[in-house]
Amino acid sequence: MAYENIIVETRGAVGLIRLNRPQALNALNSALLGDLNIALGAFDADGRIGAIVITGSEKAFAAGADIKEMQSLDFVDAYMEDFIGDWEKVPRIRKPIIAAVAGYALGGGCELAMMCDFIIAAKTAKFGQPEITLGVMPGMGGTQRLARFIGKAKAMDLCLTGRMMDADEAERCGLVARVVPSQDLLEEAIKAAEKIASFSQPVVMMTKETVNRAYETTLAEGLRFERRLFHSMFALEDQKEGMAAFTGKRTPSFKNR
Ligand code: CAA
Repeated sequence: MAYENIIVETRGAVGLIRLNRPQALNALNSALLGDLNIALGAFDADGRIGAIVITGSEKAFAAGADIKEMQSLDFVDAYMEDFIGDWEKVPRIRKPIIAAVAGYALGGGCELAMMCDFIIAAKTAKFGQPEITLGVMPGMGGTQRLARFIGKAKAMDLCLTGRMMDADEAERCGLVARVVPSQDLLEEAIKAAEKIASFSQPVVMMTKETVNRAYETTLAEGLRFERRLFHSMFALEDQKEGMAAFTGKRTPSFKNR
């Protein structure tokens, strides 16, 4: 499949997607979204792929939704075509996605990073929701995910002032899982993805699903969901293999069954 706005490759069991609109700092337009959804769907369906990394360039993960595409939009068009609604397909991908962020992750760029399962940031990363400076507000989940991930105070601060947050602040407030030197970003993200891909795929996918459940339900329901899936894991050959390998002091060989 030839893509115009992303570069797609595989590194062993890791699917790697680079956002690639350098002339627009990887601004997220409909064409890029179309490419991204096809590539993510293909990796999700490919049994050889265990985890996915999405990255941008050194200067920008993505500087937001494409302002030039949105500029002349009117309400009826936006509503009737459910403008940007297709971004909701990204968090529905069932395999883990790591966002490897260097440079700007603004507006939709920050929102895309938050749709991934965790963010590894280069020292140069800058996160923000500057939509308010354009006369709008975040529309790809920023108000909701930021509030859940980093709390009301910081979410309000970012969404209402439009200021940027550096990588260290983003790590302190829990937006980012790890901050690494810029030159190591991709390697670290791929290493983390390879580690994930080395585990039992159904267990990895159920773990992702269960952690995400924490954001969508009550604690009691979440705990019940966790316990049910935990019980179901004893039906897996991989559970027998993982525990036999531990007691036998050897490396497990998971079969994804
Ligand atoms: N959309 C479209 N084009 C963009 C863009 C965006 N979000 N961000 C940058 N670009 C384009 C610029 O227009 C410029 O193109 P030209 O060379 O054709 O003029 C090119 O990328 C390089 O950008 P700059 O010259 O501005 O680069 P800079 O280094 O001086 O500044 C920046 C970098 C601070 C990130 C600045 O580009 C900027 O502020 N970008 C916009 C950030 C923003 O407001 N994002 C939110 C978008 S709205 C949104 O995302 C809504 C939503 O939630 C759904």
